[in-house]
Amino acid sequence: MYCISRFHLLSPSISPIRKSKLSKRHNHRIAGSQSQLQQQHQKMETNNAFKFLTKSPYTPPSWASHLSLIPSHAVSLGHLPTPIHKWHLPNLPNNTEVWLKRDDLSGMQMSGNKVRKLEFLMADAVAQGADCIITIGGIQSNHCRATAVAAKYLNLDCYLILRTSKVLVDQDPGLTGNLLVERLVGAHVELISKEEYAKIGSVTLTDILKEKLLKEGRRPYVIPVGGSNSLGTWGYIEAIREIEQQVQTANRKVKFDDIVVACGSGATIAGLSLGSWLGTLKAKVHAFSYTRPSVTLHVGFAHFIEVELDRLPDLFFSQKVKAKGQGYAISTSEELNFVKEIAATTGVVLDPVYSGKAAYGMVKDMAENPNNWEGRKVLFIHTGGLLGLFDKVDQMAPLVKNWNRMNVDESVPRKDGTGKMF
Ligand SMILES: Cc1ncc(COP(=O)(O)O)c(C=O)c1O
Repeated sequence: MYCISRFHLLSPSISPIRKSKLSKRHNHRIAGSQSQLQQQHQKMETNNAFKFLTKSPYTPPSWASHLSLIPSHAVSLGHLPTPIHKWHLPNLPNNTEVWLKRDDLSGMQMSGNKVRKLEFLMADAVAQGADCIITIGGIQSNHCRATAVAAKYLNLDCYLILRTSKVLVDQDPGLTGNLLVERLVGAHVELISKEEYAKIGSVTLTDILKEKLLKEGRRPYVIPVGGSNSLGTWGYIEAIREIEQQVQTANRKVKFDDIVVACGSGATIAGLSLGSWLGTLKAKVHAFSYTRPSVTLHVGFAHFIEVELDRLPDLFFSQKVKAKGQGYAISTSEELNFVKEIAATTGVVLDPVYSGKAAYGMVKDMAENPNNWEGRKVLFIHTGGLLGLFDKVDQMAPLVKNWNRMNVDESVPRKDGTGKMF
């Protein structure tokens, strides 16, 4: 488009016939180079398709090459790059644009942000000769489910320590949401009560299981809560490189002022903040966390830094981290109603534990402090977690009443040969 209009501007005196011949030739050339590009693109996609589940050497972005603890390899697990599109949220402040990075579409049975972390973590597990993976999380942990799937893809066993209430800890945990996938792919589920978890801690619990498996002759590899450690952080350093490339090749130039994301165990915001700061984006990263008052950031240049959420902005070029709400995996009716409204108005289904709360927090903050957001271009990262909604169906039921029995007159005849049930 750009070339054609430029040609017109530069050639006002050319006769219409010659002009049409020239523009035909010109269009032909454009079509030729477009098809070449398409062919290259197709070739790349084919190569990428065969890269799936393979381990290859990893080279960091140039702006991150000075960091220590650079992973040597990554396993291709995700359907990347994930798309970015404009998100038409209702009632935004003046001239505020919100764009959505669809990491919920990153693949691996809807594994969301976990896919990016696991690309590095699983490569390390394979490199260390592990024959099984141990990880730990809440009963509806998206991370545990994603790890269970990734492990099976790579022909590894998976052991999940899942935290539940003490009244449910001795019972079959059922098949709701993430549990269905975990159990379908054959992960070994070890239940622990919230009280035991709080008393013993996730590191000791995974160590206990590791010892047991070692004694049985297994070669376990432990992934910490949420896949958040130095290696996991590289997933979102890489995501920043991906966004940079997408912005550079977009038809319409977009310069994001802010990145907004949900925060749990911390590696997603750590990678995004670090990448945005070191790379070319320079967007402010805002994390919405409803889980706990501090977060351990595992970054490439130090083993980890534990910071209070409120100090994160100074350290990582972020503006603000909000830590409010009812607590982990507890949704208020306003939050669930928000998830429903956003699905109904934009078609985008958020999860109740992370992205739903983060988007709710962002929109609320925009309504309360419009001056802070006016005219800004915001990239919201949808980190997935859809299966967690199945755990909330009872709470959601009163919100989705849009059904009725279809009214058809019994005398309506069927048109011959059409509309048969298959
Ligand atoms: C769907 C979803 N979004 C966001 C997060 C937060 O990511 P992180 O643990 O890296 O802070 C998690 C996991 O904790 C998650 O499952």
